[in-house]
Order: sequence, then C-alpha cells, then structure tokens
Amino acid sequence: MAAEKKRELQHVAIIMDGNGRWAKKHGLEHIEGHKKGAEAVKQSVEVAKELGIKYLTLYAFSTENWKRPENEVKGLMSLLRDFLEKHMDEMNEKGISIRAVGRIDKLPFLTRRKLLSAIKKTRNNKEGTLVLALNYGGRAEIVDAAKKIADDVSNGKIKSSDLDEELFKNYLYAPDIPDPELMIRTSGEFRLSNFLLWELSYSEIYISDVLWPDFDKNEFKKAVESYYGRDRRFGGRQSKALH
Ligand code: IPE
Ligand code: IPE
Ligand code: MG
Repeated sequence: MAAEKKRELQHVAIIMDGNGRWAKKHGLEHIEGHKKGAEAVKQSVEVAKELGIKYLTLYAFSTENWKRPENEVKGLMSLLRDFLEKHMDEMNEKGISIRAVGRIDKLPFLTRRKLLSAIKKTRNNKEGTLVLALNYGGRAEIVDAAKKIADDVSNGKIKSSDLDEELFKNYLYAPDIPDPELMIRTSGEFRLSNFLLWELSYSEIYISDVLWPDFDKNEFKKAVESYYGRDRRFGGRQSKALH
C-alpha cells in the first residue's frame, strides 16, 4: 500500500528547454522559439489534467537566465504577461490554480503585478495547480530557506536542534506541494540547471529529445508511460511493478 502511494503520479516538473534550437531549425529569431514555447504550455496543462496529475511545475525562467541579452529577457517577461492574460479565463474554466516559486519580488514590476493578480484570481480552483518557476534557482531556494531558519532561530521561534528534513522543507517556497515523482527535460540535455535541487532528490528523470515547442500531449504521455514502467526503490530493495 505504501509503495503504491509512492508510485502514484501527483506532480510532474518540466525543464522546458530547446526554444532557441527550435527557432534556429526553422530559420527564425530566438524569441520566436520562446513564443512557440509559450503556446506549447497549454498542451502540457491539458494533458496533466486529463491524466489526473494534480501539480505541474514548469521551469520558465532561472536565476541564471538574467545573463541572456536584455531584449531576450524583456521578451520572455512580456510573453509571460501575455500568457497570464490570455489563459486566465481558461484556467478558471478548467479549475486550475496558478502558483509561483522563485525570487518573485525581483521580477520586473509589471510582470510581478500580473503574476500576483493571476495567483489571486485562480486561488480557489481545486482541479489542479500550475506552478511557474520564475527567477527560480534551486540553490537560491535553499539559501532563502536557510536565511528564514536563521531568523527563526535567533528570534526563538525554533531551536537549531529541532531542525530535520521535514522542518527544513517547511521553509522552502512551496512546502505544501509534494515532491515531483517525475521530472522531464526536453531537447536532450542531461543536466538539472539548478532546478528543484531539494525536491528532485528521488524523482524519476525522463529526457526527451523533442524540442520544447514540439512537446505535445503525445510526448507528455510517453514520459508518463515510461515513469509507470520503472521500479522506484528509494534506497530499498526491488519492489514489484504495480502497473
Ligand atoms: C528554454 O529554451 C527556455 C528558457 C530558458 C526560458 P532556450 O532558450 O534555453 O533554448 P536552447 O537551449 O537555446 O535551444
Ligand atoms: C534551464 O534551461 C532554464 C529554463 C528552462 C528556464 P537553460 O537553457 O537556461 O539551461 P542551460 O543553460 O542549458 O543549463
Ligand atoms: Mg536552453
């Protein structure tokens, strides 16, 4: 029973990579790849809902992505605002709430405002949650947690001896959300690029060669099928396949 619970897919996290390569392949500017990439998001949101996956986390902008050319960063922020504006009603119809993880306070003012309003407008939706990782870095998340813990120790709220993994998790950006059982990275790169370093400790990893703008419902389903075909051990012995 406990093993069965562990296998159930509740949370899928995706590193949406390959927009630049998609644009190059089609003889277009990099930003056109990002536009196509933003359109592709809808497919994953829909299929996650169809498959009963409660949480979908999308890595949309990393703490390292500020290093990109200024017009690309501006373009990405504007695409994010457009995405939120365009899909808000649809999210409400589908019962999907929007959340964000990352250093949100450092996002440009207009983007932050649109994001906070989307979070507020969708917060009562219960069918599923779309978590946008924005100005997100796994190391930054751990450092931010450590700072809050240090504050709580110094103001006497907790004792350092109380600290264990469970308590530490409470200081991360979204402590109520279960760790992803499956992490997908598109466009064939085998690295984490600072994504969910704490939360991915025991996640299954699926690398797809498909570039993010081409990652459709079918590709998402392939990743899910691959997940159910695997034997998750959590450091223990081999368990019987449950699917
Ligand atoms: C990923 O696409 C999207 C973001 C980082 C926002 P890239 O822009 O990294 O695409 P590639 O890796 O150059 O193909
Ligand atoms: C990871 O992709 C970040 C996002 C998808 C938002 P990158 O393209 O920025 O990562 P690297 O540079 O390949 O590690
Ligand atoms: Mg990339």
